[in-house]
Amino acid sequence: MCGIVGAIANRDVVPVLIEGLKRLEYRGYDSAGIAVVDGAGAASEVRRVRRTGRVAEMENAAQAEQFSARLGIGHTRWATHGGVTEANAHPHISHGVALVHNGIIENHEEQRERLRQLGYVFESQTDTEVIAHLIHHHLQGGDDLLGALQATVRELHGAYALAVVSRKEPERLVAARMGCPLLVGLGEGENFVASDVSAIVQATRRVIFLEEGDTAEVSRDAVRIFDGEGRAIERDVHVSDVSLASLELGPYRHFMQKEIHEQPRAIADTIEAVMDNNAFSAELFGAGAEAVLCDIEAVQILACGTSYYAGLTARYWIEAITGLPCAVDIASEYRYRSVVANPKQLVVTISQSGETLDTMEALKYAKSFGQDRTLSICNVPESAIPRASRLVYYTRAGAEIGVASTKAFTTQLVALFTLTCTLAKLRGRLDATQEARYLEDLRQLPGSVQHALNLEPQIVSWSERFAPKQHALFLGRGVHYPIALEGALKLKEISYIHAEAYPAGELKHGPLALVDSDMPVVVIAPNDSLLEKVKSNIQEVRARGGEMFVFADADSQFGESEQVHVIRTPRHVGVLSPIVHAIPVQLLAYHAALARGTDVDKPRNLAKSVTVE
Ligand code: F6R
Repeated sequence: MCGIVGAIANRDVVPVLIEGLKRLEYRGYDSAGIAVVDGAGAASEVRRVRRTGRVAEMENAAQAEQFSARLGIGHTRWATHGGVTEANAHPHISHGVALVHNGIIENHEEQRERLRQLGYVFESQTDTEVIAHLIHHHLQGGDDLLGALQATVRELHGAYALAVVSRKEPERLVAARMGCPLLVGLGEGENFVASDVSAIVQATRRVIFLEEGDTAEVSRDAVRIFDGEGRAIERDVHVSDVSLASLELGPYRHFMQKEIHEQPRAIADTIEAVMDNNAFSAELFGAGAEAVLCDIEAVQILACGTSYYAGLTARYWIEAITGLPCAVDIASEYRYRSVVANPKQLVVTISQSGETLDTMEALKYAKSFGQDRTLSICNVPESAIPRASRLVYYTRAGAEIGVASTKAFTTQLVALFTLTCTLAKLRGRLDATQEARYLEDLRQLPGSVQHALNLEPQIVSWSERFAPKQHALFLGRGVHYPIALEGALKLKEISYIHAEAYPAGELKHGPLALVDSDMPVVVIAPNDSLLEKVKSNIQEVRARGGEMFVFADADSQFGESEQVHVIRTPRHVGVLSPIVHAIPVQLLAYHAALARGTDVDKPRNLAKSVTVE
């Protein structure tokens, strides 16, 4: 949510900033801007270009104005405080100090009032502009740029990642982090800052992740880092394994399409360690995991959006296979309700980005009353949520750029199934024969997912019928109900068709009133123990003139008619069936969105990684 990039080099940094912003654009695409320090000594000046809309528009403007410099910062914005206007776009400038910011400053109104009284004039409605003025105010008091930044962040409440340059200090940029990710990239005679390694991977893979409260001073040849107390400190250098190919579209039209098709590979990578072991074992979740997992009495899952639906699916597995009670909460709700502490409960957070603020805060809340058996299922190494958890299982989906989550979801499900089997084994509820069966199911899964992907041409023909609709219903039962929820979320998120999901048995308690010939009803109906119940629910819809689109298995035995259309996956894959059935609903949403001509990878009003409350 919002992206930051900054660079200092002996070459023109404008192309670096623009390329970085293009790679960060999925994190926020309301506006984009760069500010550069041009010239040397007393003649140096800060130049800025900002545009609402896409980075490409800002790039055209920067080219037209012949921007070029050896020091600069850039930003892509997802609007929070203040509308989508050029005046609210970053960078913000105060008397030659330019700044970009991710996060939210909670005490911005109080600071704004104070700064007004000091004579500062505000040009935007953002919380960010107060930071620029505060830094300038401290510079006036005699601090250098780093000192002014350190004095400023002491006066801020809230979350921030900041990168700052000043006309008066053309040989450095400074940065600060609290609650939002920020890293320093180390090059040869050039250095960078970025909110995400993808922004600078074309220039360097060597990065230092700043810790909470850190500030940094970055020049061409040196990087100095200070902790929250202002003490100079060394932080580890990591070599990122993010590949440029994972950030490129390749032969695909959209990242969402690419990521849907990457799922067999992503799942195979995520289960690689399990397959290598040929066993479920606690070590898969990190050192010391057995002591944390062996005697737990309950599982509490916390997540948002699609990750929450992964948690809802896992509840069926955990309760049936391990015998442990499992609660699943939307993170933003959990953190504000009174919960009964149980130190023997395992708290599992699920997050693709590892940055989602609601999930992070829910985890902190759980820890605040002694729930310290924490496990994070996450796709982004070194992100905040796994770092705050005792145990971690990294999904290996690779960079997910499409705003709508796809491969992260199915790999989360694989990780959660692995957790389920591991807990069951630790509790003596998984004998060797059953373990071997589940391992075989997992081994077969990438192939089964590929078979589901092969249904794409049939799904394309359905999607054309969906495109003109305003509403749709999704139905599922049992472990497939969360897949219906996920299907509805995917469809509304990228095609803007209003979609709701219900457990199929619940329809007659109200939502059936919505059904008429204009309301497509999607049903997830694999050949499991609830199939006959689902078939009865389908008859109820049919009798009211509803048009049904059924995703079934080869052996689900559905009669097709004018009103009932059926697409069948080749075979029922047993307990992992929800993972296979996630694929057709993703494809349906993708092709319906294509047919409606929406911006699939950057749906309106949304952004990847939600780091605000
Ligand atoms: C929907 C989607 C979101 C995310 C949610 C949580 O397609 O992507 O609902 O699942 O914002 O994000 P993470 O998993 O990064 O915590």
